[in-house]
Amino acid sequence: MTEGPRYRVAVIAGDGVGPEVIAAGRRVVEAAGARFGFAVEWTDLVVGGAAIDAFGVPIRAEDLETCRAVDAVFLGAIGGPKWDDPNAPVRPEQALFTLRGGLELFANLRPVRVEPSLVGTSPLRPSLLAGVDLLIVRELTGGLYFGRPSEERETPQGRVAVDTLWYTEGEIRRLVRLAFELARGRRRHLTSVDKANVLASSRLWRKVVEEEAADFPEVTWEHRLVDACAMMLIKRPASFDVIATENMFGDILSDEASVLAGSLGMLPSASLGTRRTDHGIHGLYEPIHGSAPHLAGQDRANPVATILSGAMMLRWSLGQPSASDAIERAVAEALEDGLRTVDLAAGAGEAAAGTKVVGTAEMAEAIVARLAASELAAVPGGSVR
Ligand code: IPM
Ligand code: MG
Repeated sequence: MTEGPRYRVAVIAGDGVGPEVIAAGRRVVEAAGARFGFAVEWTDLVVGGAAIDAFGVPIRAEDLETCRAVDAVFLGAIGGPKWDDPNAPVRPEQALFTLRGGLELFANLRPVRVEPSLVGTSPLRPSLLAGVDLLIVRELTGGLYFGRPSEERETPQGRVAVDTLWYTEGEIRRLVRLAFELARGRRRHLTSVDKANVLASSRLWRKVVEEEAADFPEVTWEHRLVDACAMMLIKRPASFDVIATENMFGDILSDEASVLAGSLGMLPSASLGTRRTDHGIHGLYEPIHGSAPHLAGQDRANPVATILSGAMMLRWSLGQPSASDAIERAVAEALEDGLRTVDLAAGAGEAAAGTKVVGTAEMAEAIVARLAASELAAVPGGSVR
């Protein structure tokens, strides 16, 4: 149908609400393709809890290879109570770590913006939310998530469990450099977050930040301890631009930051690797939320985080920044027009004046309609997200 470029994307719908939000995300990316003249060839993969049921493993080697070979991976959510037994030999989340580690997706970008129309949705005072536009750059293939040993042992003193926090200088450096580069393209401020008053890995982190800062004289920067940062994210969220931090701190701070945006269902993410494709950087795109089993199969999940992850995919991996901007604008317009999934609705699903509560699919269709009506011209000044 289209003469334009064709991109190859592996799709992992996953568990819980994953299939519903991925269907919504795909629908919007397809609509962007029709509007902007490109096509996407989707390859569906069974990964996560679904793969444990089907194949006995969270991800098969051949599916990891498919993910490596395509231009990008689009993922819904993985995990659920069915596979949560702490004694189970395999866990769905292992698929995430196999993907992140196996594809060397070392940088996880989690942008946090507050749509003006959602200011009332956050429990925070509107005055605190004005101008919030921050980007968490989370290290994704090191730290406690990957350090070994990580196990429980029987000892004469009873059971003991150990996890290992380990970082090489090179792992820190590539993450910090990327964060400085991203800050240079934004408001030129970097906050490096650590726990250097306690952890040796954080003290090495600080040294590397100081060394790298010399190459970015135009970027102002600071070290901040993670506990103080958690407080400042609520007290003065607009003061942040780029936040660079290790794996677990980034996991925790990004859920905290989602409160600013009004719901966990609003935040997208990009996990970027080291490989360049013909069109951009190889990466994996997923909402920061989980599989939300309590909402699964009910057409109630907010698809915006996945749709915005699709926009990030178009920007970073597929070389379609105008289509990416157009999706972000269409999302903003749908919200401005009062469309709300239940997580964004006033008081447990009740529509506030001027808003309408819609399901997952209807939200996606509303965004598609606004995308189809959008101007084709690239809008200058779209920010790095
Ligand atoms: C995330 C998630 C995962 C993580 C879980 C599901 C293992 O919370 O992507 O933020 O901790 O990285
Ligand atoms: Mg998390």
